[in-house]
Amino acid sequence: MQNNMKLLVTGGAGFIGSNFVHHILDTYPEYEVVVLDALTYAGNLESLKKFEHESRYRFVKGDITDASLVDELVVECDIVVHFAAESHVDRSILEPSIFIKTNVLGTQVLLEAARKYNKRFHHVSTDEVFGALGPHDEPFNEHTPYDPRSPYSASKAASDHLVEAYFHTYNLPITISNCSNNYGPYHFPEKLIPLAITNLIEGKNIPVYGDGRQVRDWLHVKDHCRAIDMIIHNGHIGETYCVGGDGERENIWIVKNILKEMGLGEERLEYVKDRAGHDRRYAINHDKITRELGWKPEIALEEGLKETIAWFQENKGWWQAVKDGSYQEYYENQYIKR
Ligand code: NAD
Ligand code: DAU
Repeated sequence: MQNNMKLLVTGGAGFIGSNFVHHILDTYPEYEVVVLDALTYAGNLESLKKFEHESRYRFVKGDITDASLVDELVVECDIVVHFAAESHVDRSILEPSIFIKTNVLGTQVLLEAARKYNKRFHHVSTDEVFGALGPHDEPFNEHTPYDPRSPYSASKAASDHLVEAYFHTYNLPITISNCSNNYGPYHFPEKLIPLAITNLIEGKNIPVYGDGRQVRDWLHVKDHCRAIDMIIHNGHIGETYCVGGDGERENIWIVKNILKEMGLGEERLEYVKDRAGHDRRYAINHDKITRELGWKPEIALEEGLKETIAWFQENKGWWQAVKDGSYQEYYENQYIKR
């Protein structure tokens, strides 16, 4: 790949996208980044503030379903790194339509522009497309059949299939990554870890769905960004890579660990109604990306959690602004009216 590369990063004002923009601009002094983001409730320009006067960075507010805008931006880049999505499972249960529009239609609009100008395309997807594991099942890998079970995961599965279809049908130079649950700085406080930390700082309790024994495989967002970096530079065209954190834990372990680190007791746990169709366990076997590209997770979960708690304690301004407004209305419907 050339020394200077121009990346179009969709969803770059969201959690993982903004961490990825930091990673790229901090690691590659010659690279340029254009962020295309609609600034939905989950997008936040504060997460990219560090770069606002940087000539190698440009922000464009816009929707990935806007074909003419997408066309204009794709033609001038070398690679599209596609993060933009509706990402929250609970919201997809309340209102699925926007998930279909953004995640399915939006991805197809981007693919069409990439096809027109024959651009490299990396699609960021999720392990949720593989369904749910039992306690003794082998972790997901690149050969696991698709079995999505929520409107969110079904929309991501559809987008993965479209990306594959553009490779097989049009030879579009694509790669896909399916990763497990990320955590770290700039994580929107509707998701379990940032919600737990920020609720505790605010004097509220942590809502635990069902029995709290569901398992997720936690991956530090910085490890994830390094994996995407390796895939866009050295990944094999047409291939999928599973990216996991070696961080399988029950939700109850996660929230008790956060309580312990923050010096608080278990009376701050509040067991609430379970998520509809709640997937019991996700876990990833990342042997392929380790073997082919030399990637492995480097941030141990206990360390990463400590660092993440400290980040939320030190960046109250970032998340307090985010927790106001329309988010508050969603949150009250989600938990308090149960
Ligand atoms: P996020 O919700 O924090 O951010 C999504 C971003 O996309 C926001 O900035 C939002 O404004 C933007 N966006 C939404 N709709 C848009 C549209 N129509 N046009 C342009 N921009 C739009 O999400 P995230 O957690 O950072 O996830 C990023 C990607 O990674 C998603 O594709 C998600 O499916 C995938 N993923 C996330 C995780 C995780 O643990 N967070 C794990 C696996 C995969
Ligand atoms: O596995 C990858 C996926 O991880 C991504 O594709 C999604 O975009 C991302 O949101 C995440 O999905 P989850 O549903 O696993 O994440 P969430 O943080 O919402 O929930 C994690 C677990 O914690 C899950 O079992 C539900 C539970 N939970 C969640 C919330 C918000 C609670 O017990 N209480 C809560 O308040």
